[in-house]
Amino acid sequence: MTFKNRDIIDINDFSKEELLFILKTAKRFDPVFVKRDRSNYTIAQGKIAAVLFFEQSTRTEQSFRSVAQKIGMGIIGFNDPESTSIHKGESFSDTIRIMNSYADVLIIRHPQPGAAREAANVAEIPVINAGDGPNQHPTQTMLDLYTILKEAGRIDGITVALMGDLKYGRTVHALSLALSHFKVKQIFVSHPTLAMPDEFLRILDQRGVRYEQTDELPENFSADFLYQTRVQKERFANLNEYKKIKDKFILDGSFKKYLDKGVKLMHPLPRVNEIDPILDNHPNAIYFTQARNGLYIREALLALVLGRI
Ligand code: CP
Repeated sequence: MTFKNRDIIDINDFSKEELLFILKTAKRFDPVFVKRDRSNYTIAQGKIAAVLFFEQSTRTEQSFRSVAQKIGMGIIGFNDPESTSIHKGESFSDTIRIMNSYADVLIIRHPQPGAAREAANVAEIPVINAGDGPNQHPTQTMLDLYTILKEAGRIDGITVALMGDLKYGRTVHALSLALSHFKVKQIFVSHPTLAMPDEFLRILDQRGVRYEQTDELPENFSADFLYQTRVQKERFANLNEYKKIKDKFILDGSFKKYLDKGVKLMHPLPRVNEIDPILDNHPNAIYFTQARNGLYIREALLALVLGRI
């Protein structure tokens, strides 16, 4: 299996075997599994990452910057397109063409769905999609899978509940489809107006995935993982509709009883108010560990697409 020069654009471009290979490669960079291997520090020496962020980010941008340096890469790029010649009217495609000639891999976040694919069509070097609007964020999905595998020791045979904004959330769409490669029961918890769209349910039906839909967390709730998400206020045409449902999906101190029972709580972050910080120090509140796991997935992906492992 080779990933050299491969674009990482859409989680659906990857087979189950390829996803498992990436997760296995990430373990090589994770100090939980492997004592820090100093040879990793020079694995991508002489290579340049161009980090092109047309939209705000904390985790994705900074974790890519961190691991690129950790494996010996140089970094160029921007996170304020207004500071570039785009401000003077230069096109997206010309910008990509230029950065392609200055770097060895392009890492792109952009608000427009399809922007990463468009960049990959122009660039000759690998493009990693760091989130294209509401569409895809494949490195997030890979780190979510990695977190589940690391915490549970397996993916087959578990139950994962996805909660909150299942209509607009790109992370839950992609994670649900990625989990559909495995024998995972999925539970969708949302207000009916924010339910998992039919197009995704149809795919799950075709793949024979077991799933349930519910509009609130039942008293006897049980699952291996609950993946909480933010209700995306910015997507509502009618703010009154948002106000009516926004507080139905906040996890407060009363959720501790489920954490005590062993449910592991995930969230892609950033959170606004949908998980009370009172839960943060519980060992089964794993969203900060989940964000940290992004380091190992992104370190592995850089090394793989550069053909250095
Ligand atoms: N989860 C995630 O993509 O976070 P950022 O927007 O901070 O990168």
